[in-house]
Amino acid sequence: MAFRKVASLSDLWSGEKLGLQVDGKRLLLVHVGDAVHAYEDSCPHKGVALSLGHLEEDRLVCSAHNWEYNICTGEGINPRSARLKRLEVKVDNGDILVDLDGRQQPGSASQAPDAGA
Ligand code: FES
Repeated sequence: MAFRKVASLSDLWSGEKLGLQVDGKRLLLVHVGDAVHAYEDSCPHKGVALSLGHLEEDRLVCSAHNWEYNICTGEGINPRSARLKRLEVKVDNGDILVDLDGRQQPGSASQAPDAGA
């Protein structure tokens, strides 16, 4: 497991999403409430970047064909069978660190205790 800094928490306020490219990998960061989530920035439907989509609280709608995801769990809302590829993320001293090679267990996220501070 190799965490790398990919952004600063000051770059991603609560309620925002951010698309990044790191080592050729497309990465989506989303800050919801006090938690930061990381996913591969690719819609399971046709691979369009989810960072181009629309975020409403904990729901992300893909810009291409309107598939919907719960961005806190990575699970599909419409269709329910879809699932995002989640990456392990943690916040350390204001830095957002992601394990670009690993996968996170469903339902977990990194808390951002200094969000909004
Ligand atoms: S590529 Fe996202 S809904 Fe089709």
